[in-house]
Amino acid sequence: MNNVLIKHAIDYIFHCFSAGDVAGGHDSAHTMRVYHNALRIAETIDGCDIQTISLAALLHDVDDRKVSPSTHETLGNARKFMSNENISEDIVTKVCNIINKISFSGGKIPDSIEGKIVQDADRLDAIGAIGIARAFAYGGHAGRPMTETINHFHEKLLHLKDLMNTPEGLRLAEERHNYMVDFLECWKKES
Ligand code: ADP
Ligand code: NI
Repeated sequence: MNNVLIKHAIDYIFHCFSAGDVAGGHDSAHTMRVYHNALRIAETIDGCDIQTISLAALLHDVDDRKVSPSTHETLGNARKFMSNENISEDIVTKVCNIINKISFSGGKIPDSIEGKIVQDADRLDAIGAIGIARAFAYGGHAGRPMTETINHFHEKLLHLKDLMNTPEGLRLAEERHNYMVDFLECWKKES
């Protein structure tokens, strides 16, 4: 594993994102959590490529439509970073395929095991305690009443567990899912 490459990628994401995005969605803290979740899942899977997983996790939001609309289609930021780091063309293609397929809204499943791992890692960050906080941060930023954000749990967040690709992803998702269910029960009791 090339630690200098990972250090450069981490420096790059801190340069791309503010430390804390008020909308709670796409910031360096989210990216770092996705990276760590992905490494944690990767440890349980033999033969997956840690370099591809690390690059895809760290670069997955640098061309997000909300973060960089002008490079969203081409993945220009991710490609430029990898080209500066002399990453081989087949890894660049693999990483870009993953980034194109992982978003929630896209409803796609990446073909590679590396992509499945990163998609699980990104989804884990939308559920559990962090997921609850992100949802309310998002809703507050959009000026929505809290009850509307509660709908988002039923529309999306409570379904993510059943979409996990890997056994370790599912195990971690179940813990976080149960925590959200408890939260919603408490919400009801207190309302
Ligand atoms: P991605 O860019 O990974 O596809 P989104 O932009 O859909 O993800 O979501 C980013 C974060 O914002 C997630 O934590 C998600 O739950 C939250 N979010 C997205 N839409 C809503 C919404 N309508 N209400 C509350 N939270 C939302
Ligand atoms: Ni993400």
